[in-house]
Amino acid sequence: MELKKAIEERSSVRGFLPDPVSKETLENVIRLATHAVSAENCQPWEIAVVTGDVLKKVTEDNSECLREGLPTSDLYVPAMGDYKPRRVEVGKMLFSAMEIAREDKEKRFWWLSRGYRFFDAPVGIVLYIDKELDENCYRFDVGCLAQNITLAAMEYGLGTCVAYQPIEYERGIRQHLSISDDKILVAAVAIGYPDWEFAANKVRTPRLPVEEVTTWYGFDE
Ligand SMILES: Cc1cc2nc3c(=O)[nH]c(=O)nc-3n(C[C@H](O)[C@H](O)[C@H](O)COP(=O)(O)O)c2cc1C
Repeated sequence: MELKKAIEERSSVRGFLPDPVSKETLENVIRLATHAVSAENCQPWEIAVVTGDVLKKVTEDNSECLREGLPTSDLYVPAMGDYKPRRVEVGKMLFSAMEIAREDKEKRFWWLSRGYRFFDAPVGIVLYIDKELDENCYRFDVGCLAQNITLAAMEYGLGTCVAYQPIEYERGIRQHLSISDDKILVAAVAIGYPDWEFAANKVRTPRLPVEEVTTWYGFDE
């Protein structure tokens, strides 16, 4: 797939076909993705790829934590101030696509719960780093890897959603994937063949114009 097209057409996929994804395909995606930049080429990422019964155990544990109202980790802090309207807009777009009314608590909970289940994707990826590393610096590297995963996946007809929700309850992830407390969970990626009939997959989030996010220096001299 042409690079420009892939970058422009990538969007988060939150509804998947049940079709399995082969280990070989996932290996290809990860091999491509690990060409990502990293500070001093440390390649700090550790990658757990989960499917089948293990994924089921993780998602069941997450769902139990959610049902019991257990506190999540402090990974996700909602954007506030000038940024809040952007967050709210995405939520509105998704709820509108899924025809979930504001007052429909049951459906909203159903929607929320899917996130903790990797959006029912056939495969979940967990990205983590060693606690020994400088967290601020190396989270950035993992972000670069995650973006590459989303683009590399498209080459194989796969869709992705980078997400915090699947790792916000650390209990099941750490237990079933044997990830010790010496590791920091950074992000998750749900991955699988997209169900293009799933309404939320048709949502395209807007981007700010270049002029609004860029300051130019020395160009008008
Ligand atoms: C670090 C990170 C965490 C995210 N966590 C979630 C999440 O928990 N649930 C979710 O539905 N989407 C999550 N997203 C996806 C964003 O909402 C999405 O990327 C954004 O709205 C832009 O939409 P697009 O990916 O379709 O371009 C996350 C994205 C990033 C980069």
